[in-house]
Parts: sequence; C-alpha cells; structure tokens
Amino acid sequence: MPSGPTFFATRAHLLICQNANCRARGSDLLYRAAWAMLERERLAYYKSGGSVRLTESGCLGACQFGPVLACYRRRNGQLEEGWYAAADLPLMRAVAQAAHDESDLPGERRYGPPEEVTTP
Ligand code: FES
Repeated sequence: MPSGPTFFATRAHLLICQNANCRARGSDLLYRAAWAMLERERLAYYKSGGSVRLTESGCLGACQFGPVLACYRRRNGQLEEGWYAAADLPLMRAVAQAAHDESDLPGERRYGPPEEVTTP
C-alpha cells in the first residue's frame, strides 16, 4: 500500500495578517512568537495531542486595528469565526487554547462576526 501524506487532526486554524499595516505593528514578530508558544504549549497540530494550525495571511481588512487575527474552527457541526483586533501573544494563546479545548472563544478584542456561520 503506498504511503500518503500524514494527516494531522486540526480543531482550528489561526491566521495572522502579515500585510504592511499589521507588520508595522509587529505582526511578523507576533507570528514567530506565536509559533514558539504553540510548540511550547503543545497546541501545534503536529505535536502529540496538538490541534491548532497557524498561517500568515494577507490583509484581513481591518488594517488600522492590527495586528489582526482570525480564527476558524468547526464547532457543533458549524463553522465558527473569531476576528480579533490588536492581537498580542496572550490573546493568541487564549484563542488557541480555547480552540484546542473546544470552549468558547475569548470575547476580548473580538469584533466579529457575532453569530456562528452555517455552511451548506
Ligand atoms: S494590513 Fe493587516 S488587516 Fe490589513
């Protein structure tokens, strides 16, 4: 049987904007620090028991409030989004931990959308 790519279970995907306005507010350092935190806390999807992915993104459309963080996850059969302004490492840790634990996403600095999004 041919071996395929390894599948890693993922509970949430975090995206941190790396466009110019957010980078001017430190999102590049935040991205690197967030990866170190995910590894240290064993939340990274490729760690045993971990489940969170982190990706650099382009502009997320809230440039004057950066660094901007978006979190996507599936919860109770629905896609849930959490969008955050002025993200920092403690906030990213709280979002990642809540996503991993399948608990409510933090409300601090969250700006939308207020309702879960239903997918077809
Ligand atoms: S530059 Fe980050 S949201 Fe636009």
